[in-house]
Amino acid sequence: MTETPITKTKAPGLSAFRTLGFRISGCLLLLALPCGMAFAAELKFATGAESRAEFERVVKPFFAKHCATCHNDKKAKGDLNLAELDPDMKASTSGARWAKLVQSLTEGDMPPEEKPRPETAGMEAVIRWAHAEAKRANKHFAKRASYANGNAVPHEVLFNPASIPPFDGSPRVRRLSPEIYAASFLDKGKAKGVSQPFSGEGRTTFKDMGAPKMDEPVTMQLLQNALAIVEARTAHKLEDGKVKAIGFPPKELLALFDPAAPPTDAQVESAIAWQFNFVLKRAPTAEEKARFVALMKRNIADAGQVLGARYALAAVLMLPEAIFRLEVGTGRLDGKGRARLGPREIAFGISYALTDGPPDTALLTAAATGGLDSDEDVARQVRRLLDEPKLEKPRILRFFREYFDYEKAKDVFKDPSGGRAALGHPGHDARTLVEDTDRLVLSILEQDKDVLRELLTTRKSFVSYKTAADQKKKRAEALAKFEEEKAKNPEKFKTKTFNPPGREVFRSYGLDDFPDDQPVELPADQRAGILTQPAWLVAQSTAFENHVIHRGKWIRERLLGGVVPDVPITVDAQLPDAPEKTLRERMAVTQQEYCWKCHQLMNDAGYAFERYDHFGRYRTAEPVLDPAATAKNLDSKGRPLGPVMREAALNTAGIIAQVGDRRVEGSVKGPVDYMRKLADSERVEQVFVRHAFRYWLGRNETPGDAASMQAAHRAYRADGGSMKALITALLTSESFLYRIPEKSAQNN
Ligand code: HEC
Ligand code: HEC
Repeated sequence: MTETPITKTKAPGLSAFRTLGFRISGCLLLLALPCGMAFAAELKFATGAESRAEFERVVKPFFAKHCATCHNDKKAKGDLNLAELDPDMKASTSGARWAKLVQSLTEGDMPPEEKPRPETAGMEAVIRWAHAEAKRANKHFAKRASYANGNAVPHEVLFNPASIPPFDGSPRVRRLSPEIYAASFLDKGKAKGVSQPFSGEGRTTFKDMGAPKMDEPVTMQLLQNALAIVEARTAHKLEDGKVKAIGFPPKELLALFDPAAPPTDAQVESAIAWQFNFVLKRAPTAEEKARFVALMKRNIADAGQVLGARYALAAVLMLPEAIFRLEVGTGRLDGKGRARLGPREIAFGISYALTDGPPDTALLTAAATGGLDSDEDVARQVRRLLDEPKLEKPRILRFFREYFDYEKAKDVFKDPSGGRAALGHPGHDARTLVEDTDRLVLSILEQDKDVLRELLTTRKSFVSYKTAADQKKKRAEALAKFEEEKAKNPEKFKTKTFNPPGREVFRSYGLDDFPDDQPVELPADQRAGILTQPAWLVAQSTAFENHVIHRGKWIRERLLGGVVPDVPITVDAQLPDAPEKTLRERMAVTQQEYCWKCHQLMNDAGYAFERYDHFGRYRTAEPVLDPAATAKNLDSKGRPLGPVMREAALNTAGIIAQVGDRRVEGSVKGPVDYMRKLADSERVEQVFVRHAFRYWLGRNETPGDAASMQAAHRAYRADGGSMKALITALLTSESFLYRIPEKSAQNN
């Protein structure tokens, strides 16, 4: 695929390279197998009659109850008449129709939003029947569907140990994350003209998920980068006809550029070998070597020594393996029809799971010598990396940052006047708040015990931990200086007050000063965990006030595992501007029946945090405008002196409903008891495991991941709530290490 020689004899710019680029990207597209899901149950039909009986028993009544009003003989919405849809998939040509129907159920698209949700058990039964019937009919439509929202997979399907759907992970090809690309190719080369071709992705829970598209701009940037990286690696000049290195190009590459002596075959080979090792951390195969040597020679003949050699080297950077994470399953097939990832796929997979860089030498050696062949071998390597103190593992903290989403605090502009609900707050400093919460997460990870419970309930906190001591010192110095000046010139200082330098971030935590010991323990009745840290509270706030709806949505999705439908575009999502009312009173507009079907999932889950103002400060009342007092607030000439506030009573109560787990449902009084209750819930713990799965697998879970998911949860519990145990379990799970080959996926 990379044979295309450069044919132009004049300096061929990017356009000449285009052909090569598009050839490569064409092949990438072929490789980019869909990341599929399937939901097959143990249900199996030997005959059409058996299937038909089950259809009559469970499917027909379900359709009658939930679907028939819109999909019948007279009214066939979406051109679908269920009475005519043949339940014998062998005979019918309607396999695609059935596949679509199952997808509409699993993704929660049907019945439409305004209709009551069907009960999970009924939905499951229909899906099971459809998959069993498809299997009987040899249709295998299941692989086409995928979950757009991970939470849409019913929780019970994943965590019922008595009924585990079979594993169905398909081969995958993922683009490198922007971080991995940067660490592999941007930091080291320091080449000019190189820039990040990838962007973080949009609507997924975590940034590095899914199979983002490779469009023309991305491909062109990759090409441009490849050329620039090679140019930097081969920088040289000619002096008296001799090649002089600029910087530190490797001698293997430099040898290509001697104008007096075109490179020998051996020199071309060793340059290609060097480039393969630089880019892919491996030697070229015999076939690759022959192909790239031929390519370089042809390019040199066509475009001259310098350009020709550089283009051939750049082609290595455009190999799919350099741009994509291959998780296809190149290893051996086992007795269960599963293909194991190949050793290199595993080595790169676990390295990219923890770090942004390629595997270290020990891991590459293990891959080359059979040291990753068993699950125990893989677990040992994962443990080694986790326990290696010198190895930076930015991906672990990044998980918590993205999961709790507190880094967003830095993007929330705060009105300098303090906004509606608070007076001015000179100590606010979002960057420091985020650093402090990072530090708290890391300290909990250092203990690695009851990690989720600690994250949700700890009252420990870091407070400006990087600069507290320094700031105290500076303040003392400034104060001493102030006093000194004042003593010298008492008259001038009569009306001056001392203004401490720096940001008094401790105010966000309700403290009087920077603590001397970090972490500090905050009052037990005031704080419990990350969600009561100013960073999280600010991230879920606006310039002027708290954002109850966003807070509730976060909890509904990330702790309770619920699905909240998107705001319809027809809704004007704004609260009335009524400064004399509390935020809760203003939110009454969302209690209209039409709004409430969504907002009941969010509002009540977020009210508890009304205990804090929008800077994250603990409070006992909510300031609102006092119109009567404001009207009377006049100067002697009758001119208004400005708004007067009054303190309205706080109401932090909420009712948690519709979780599907009685033990978490019920009333909530305030943030601390709320967090304890959530931390006690096994359901919440499982939802956390689902999110960890999503992050470390880089995709949404499907029913076929149930076994992996349950094993990961068991490992977490068995090891006393250890994140290391959870990560190790995920990276040695069936879902991580195996693929079901795609052989029969196309035949519907
Ligand atoms: C209130 C009416 C209504 C109900 C009830 C309803 N649907 Fe639909 N359905 C529609 C409409 C309208 C469309 C076409 C527009 C669309 O795709 O959103 C549609 C489209 C579909 C399609 C896509 C058809 C195609 O091939 O493009 C499927 C599949 C489907 N519905 C299945 C179901 C199932 C299964 C149920 C019951 C669980 C159901 N529907 C209940 C209104 C309804
Ligand atoms: C289909 C579900 C749904 C319906 C119906 C709905 N909302 Fe919402 N609403 C949401 C979601 C989801 C959000 C959170 C959006 C986000 O993540 O930014 C939201 C956010 C809001 C917000 C906060 C906007 C912001 O970001 O500041 C307001 C106000 C609001 N809705 C009012 C209403 C009102 C009033 C109605 C009824 C007329 C209504 N919504 C109907 C789902 C819904």
